[in-house]
Amino acid sequence: MEIKVNRLDRGYSKYKNEYESKALEILRSGWYVLGPEVNNFENEFADFIGAKYCVGLASGLDSLWLAFKILGIKEGDEVIVQGNTYIASVMGITINGATPIFVEPDQYNNIDTEKIECKISDRTKAILVVHLYGQASNMDKILQLCKKYNLKLVEDCAQAHGAKYKGKMVGSFGDIGCFSFYPSKNLGAFGDGGAIVTNDEEINRLMRIYRNYGSEKRYYNMVVGANSRLDELQAGLLRVKLTHLNDINQERSYIANRYLEEIKNENILLPKILEEATTVWHQFVIHTHRRKELIEYLESNNINTLIHYPIPPHLSEAYKYLGYKKGDLPITEKYANEVLSLPMYNGMTDKEISYVVSNVNNFK
Ligand SMILES: Cc1ncc(COP(=O)(O)O)c(C=O)c1O
Repeated sequence: MEIKVNRLDRGYSKYKNEYESKALEILRSGWYVLGPEVNNFENEFADFIGAKYCVGLASGLDSLWLAFKILGIKEGDEVIVQGNTYIASVMGITINGATPIFVEPDQYNNIDTEKIECKISDRTKAILVVHLYGQASNMDKILQLCKKYNLKLVEDCAQAHGAKYKGKMVGSFGDIGCFSFYPSKNLGAFGDGGAIVTNDEEINRLMRIYRNYGSEKRYYNMVVGANSRLDELQAGLLRVKLTHLNDINQERSYIANRYLEEIKNENILLPKILEEATTVWHQFVIHTHRRKELIEYLESNNINTLIHYPIPPHLSEAYKYLGYKKGDLPITEKYANEVLSLPMYNGMTDKEISYVVSNVNNFK
């Protein structure tokens, strides 16, 4: 048996007829960018998250940098973010010329909220909370700090469509919630896509301007914007997928629960979930001190794995200019050496799950 770390074809097959008829409908409509499908998707996704507005964009990265741009974050400003995130979170900050201030992660792989306050300075303007691997972060403490220091709150929900903290959806806590619809995401499109959600009418208005060359009225450009529009095809297909998102997340939860119950190996630390939070299992991430050997063992049994992420942003070449060196963020760096994502995809069969479990358990 061969197990890939992800199988997007399986997720597609399950709702194949619905996707194909929607795609044909849009292709035949003659309307391909910012039309009725985008409008409907924006309304439906805002409803799903429990926010007033949603603005469709071209990618998750665009949602982040445009969010900070609209909040007025610029050179000289600092934004707090966890050290062990995907680098796009950090790029959302630095594209605007602002400086990321890294905070170490907790045992749930999210920002350690006890370590934020000591990093807040006069220059701190915002916190970017990342709900990593699908799990909601500890929002009570973060909201309290934002209030105390008058900070903006942006949520990176690229991996967490549908995750909740104390029953409330991620994306609905901050000034702006940012989403990616990259194909492998739980709510993934069939190409690139992204969105922001917000309860603020002015942010909604500005985001619509910024995504369209800074223009509200055709050929009248107020600001230097971007071309970051969700297209009709992606929006229509996302509408189909959104109607199944609860089932999609449920199925991932089933796979994760089998892993959690059946994987028994002293070399492996299984993921933990914060009591008040839920996870939508974007990734099933274990920690192990023997990662290289485990990868090789699983590979020799035709099981693929991935590392999310091997190089933390502060040590990446792109951020050399920030002046960090190895050892500056010991927990983040430890996680980068320990984490491993096991295969997790919609349409994974019981036989495939059992094959992964038995091989992981056989690793000595
Ligand atoms: C945490 C996180 N933030 C941001 C992004 C960027 O999203 P996109 O690939 O749609 O630009 C991703 C995904 O790639 C991500 O995982």
